Amino acid sequence: MSKFYITTSIPYVNAEPHLGHAMEFIQADALARYHRARGAEVVFSTGTDEHGGKNAEAAKELGLTPKQHVDNLSQQFKDLCELLNVSYDRFIRTTDRLHTLGAQTIWKKLKPHIYKDTYKGMYDQRQEEFITMDVAREMKKTDPERYARLSPIEEENYFFKLSDFAETIEKAIGNGSFRIVPASRKHEVLALFKSGLKDISISRPKAKIGWGIAVPDDKDQVIYVWFEALMNYITVLAYPHADDLKKFWPADVQIVGKDITRFHAAIWPAILLGIGLPLPKTLYAHGFITVDGQKMSKSVGNVVKPKDIVDEFGVDPLRYYLLRHIPSYDDGDFSHAKMLAAYNGELGNELGNLVQRISAMINKYQDGTIGDVSSGEHDTGPYNEAVENFRFDKALEYTFGLVRGLNQYIDEERPWEIAGSDPAHLQEVLAYAVGSLLQISDLLDPFMPATAAAIRTSYEHGVVKQSPPLFPRIETEVKDE
Ligand code: MSP
Repeated sequence: MSKFYITTSIPYVNAEPHLGHAMEFIQADALARYHRARGAEVVFSTGTDEHGGKNAEAAKELGLTPKQHVDNLSQQFKDLCELLNVSYDRFIRTTDRLHTLGAQTIWKKLKPHIYKDTYKGMYDQRQEEFITMDVAREMKKTDPERYARLSPIEEENYFFKLSDFAETIEKAIGNGSFRIVPASRKHEVLALFKSGLKDISISRPKAKIGWGIAVPDDKDQVIYVWFEALMNYITVLAYPHADDLKKFWPADVQIVGKDITRFHAAIWPAILLGIGLPLPKTLYAHGFITVDGQKMSKSVGNVVKPKDIVDEFGVDPLRYYLLRHIPSYDDGDFSHAKMLAAYNGELGNELGNLVQRISAMINKYQDGTIGDVSSGEHDTGPYNEAVENFRFDKALEYTFGLVRGLNQYIDEERPWEIAGSDPAHLQEVLAYAVGSLLQISDLLDPFMPATAAAIRTSYEHGVVKQSPPLFPRIETEVKDE
């Protein structure tokens, strides 16, 4: 049996789960389901990134310990996965003992590449990122809002010699043995390597941060959150224990957002090489979701909570929108109006209507019985290729092409006309329609699992009950501009 190991990034818990997190979970889920259906043994891991000074401060204000505070926050991400039908196999929290011990073991192994020095520059606490003076100067022009929240720091900490590994990583990216998708991100990363990788700080003074994973043999320092968070991809496999690691590492696909590509394309591979593990096979970086054309941000007040969309439209319609209408290689936009249009149009008028009219005709003309159903015979090559290249939008476009084609087939065959004159032919037409619909439901399964199941269960036993509409029309009042 083949294996498939897929990971998502692990979100910070200090912001509520939003549409961006939902999209990453759903993309990973679609891939996991796709590979499970093909018989692979899948491990799909996700989790939460919990250390860092900000959470310790927030906990204090609430009169909680940092751990109690992050327990509550982490649960929100688990709840989101449940809400969205995200079928992860493992959920790792960076406060788990398994992770702490694994991270310390990794640190010890990396020691030949670690040294102490003084870091002088800026720090962005919200993103937990060291920002060099050069980068900060540039940011002042390009992103003044973020620049304003940087604070200068000067502290003694540990550094990791990225330079020891740069050449090997650059080569692997260049020759595709460590594949970065899409190509635009690969080129960006290669340009970064060309400009030269500087060694990075990998610890912070415990006195300043309050909590975290202790640096082995130095009780005054904790491991820099990004450095330990990256390690989750193997601590979740119980590193250094060999069983799962041997079976599942290297990861087949690591999904991250475009803003954190370089952590995953430079620092993470260096850690792996430093401890003697192979690089992941593929790093896929998705784009960003904007809302009504604007960056989602607390200060703008346009952060969309996935739960609100699910409450109004349902889980599968949200999954559908994010997978079909946010182009996976690029940024894409979400708006209530576009969500509504996709719901009433593609889902209601095309797919929902197709499912309903087929079951209505089988009930009306054949008392609900279908007869022998051949399986759909459409070529799934373009669909498979799209999914394997993370083009979820294309895979769904292909599937909805079949939906449209089948609606058209029914329009042309006019079952209501042949019902009286040629029942044998009618039976063939309806059996073909059901076969095609079952194939469509297979293709939809990784993307819209509940919808696919609803179609499958209503048709596969040879008797069809009149199905209720899958996507009942939603009318919203037209607001005057
Ligand atoms: N904790 C780090 C990741 C550590 S992985 C070892 C982090 N967390 S995050 O909460 O800021 O982001 C989690 C994921 O959500 C990232 O992949 C990020 O790119 C993604 N997104 C955050 N905002 C997004 C959008 N507006 N749109 C799409 N994805 C976005 O970074």
